[in-house]
Amino acid sequence: MRTDGDIAIVGAGYVGLTSAACFCEMGHRVRLVEVNPHRVSQIRAGTCPIYEQGLPELLRRHVGDRLAVYDDLAAATAGARAIFVCVGTPPRASGAPDLGALSGLLSELARLDLDDTVVVLKSTVPPGTNRMVYEALGKQVPVVSNPEFLREGTAVWDFFHPDRVVVGSPDAEAALGVAGLYAGVDAPLLVTGWEEAELIKYATNSFLAIKISFANEMAALCEALGAEAPDVLKGLGLDHRVGAQFLRPGPGYGGSCLPKDIKGLAWRARRAGVKLDLLAAAERANARVRVRLLEKLSRELGGLAGVTVAVWGLAFKAGTDDLRGAASGDLVPRLLEAGARVRAYDPAAGENFAALFPLEEHPGLMIAGDQWEALHGADALLILTEWDAFAAPPLEIRRHLGGRVVVDSRNLLDPDQAASVGLVYRGTGRGRLGRG
Ligand code: UGA
Repeated sequence: MRTDGDIAIVGAGYVGLTSAACFCEMGHRVRLVEVNPHRVSQIRAGTCPIYEQGLPELLRRHVGDRLAVYDDLAAATAGARAIFVCVGTPPRASGAPDLGALSGLLSELARLDLDDTVVVLKSTVPPGTNRMVYEALGKQVPVVSNPEFLREGTAVWDFFHPDRVVVGSPDAEAALGVAGLYAGVDAPLLVTGWEEAELIKYATNSFLAIKISFANEMAALCEALGAEAPDVLKGLGLDHRVGAQFLRPGPGYGGSCLPKDIKGLAWRARRAGVKLDLLAAAERANARVRVRLLEKLSRELGGLAGVTVAVWGLAFKAGTDDLRGAASGDLVPRLLEAGARVRAYDPAAGENFAALFPLEEHPGLMIAGDQWEALHGADALLILTEWDAFAAPPLEIRRHLGGRVVVDSRNLLDPDQAASVGLVYRGTGRGRLGRG
């Protein structure tokens, strides 16, 4: 691969936009191309179209200088030394990723002069896709799989501090050329074939989903046995072979990736005639966590019809305004269907939630201006997202909340403190303190 020339990035979603800004920060010149005209003008104006810490600053620094934004693929890719594909691959009902955007791109790329460039797939694609891309481009252009492991909310940090850089291709020179673009990033480099790189991505997200489901199942068991899940999971995570991360019980994993990729891997395995038990089990466990939260609320309130529930947290996790796969999207409609009224608050995702669940169509729903307003007149508080501000003093919660019940899916509050101010506190897996 050439060591000079611009990098083209196709798709200005989370991955494409973050990668573009971060490659610029590393000193590269990047041409970012996007089909959505509104997004193109936003980025050209230096406005960050997504909620992502550190990204607005990088865009302000580089747009119009090292970062050029295009709406035309041919212009953006002409003469580029590498073309990074960062288009979306959302799930279909079958679990199969929708590769429509990728297919459309391929037919356009096939018409262009791709001499002396490398096509790099960053989009999460099922095993076999890089091979298919290579064939679709007439076996003339090196194709490298370079999966991304960025987390929403910390994507900029993750770009510069990855656990590993994976480049997969039978063309080792092309793979190492792509790895060279990350020069300065201190991380182990793994050079593999196409399918291995594709599987590393799916295996990682699926394993994380399984790990979280295991933590949630242990939490449920702790509640039944009168044990404290935080202690059990801490003891488990201190074993280096297990590791402490992704063992926090909560309202079930969400986001745009873990739910999609565990389904995508299961689909790919089914198509290959291989039965994988753990994936489906993790999905079932994840769905059950959410049912259990509603049961908890209902038990403490003596039913859900006619009650008012304050919900703190709509985003699928803290640090993002993203609602994809969020527990709120599952639980708020179910609360409303059960006849409850909902007063919801989120520091970042309130507007997105109102767009998804228009208030005129959901008369029982209101989006509060702050977390305290959400509590007024509510019979119970349900905490779904781990925003720092929600780890609030129990006394303040007691003062604002109409009723006394607090169901804290993220274990943000101290059960003893909550009980001492008269709250009926139900954490997750808190079998001894704040019975679950
Ligand atoms: C995930 C992966 O962590 C990234 O490495 C990957 O690049 C990304 O998907 C992707 O494929 O694009 P993300 O979706 O941003 O990143 O979210 P995570 O931080 O992984 O959290 C996923 C879900 O698990 C959230 O709902 C979170 O609340 C939940 N979670 C996480 C728990 O319930 N407990 C934990 O201990 C950790």
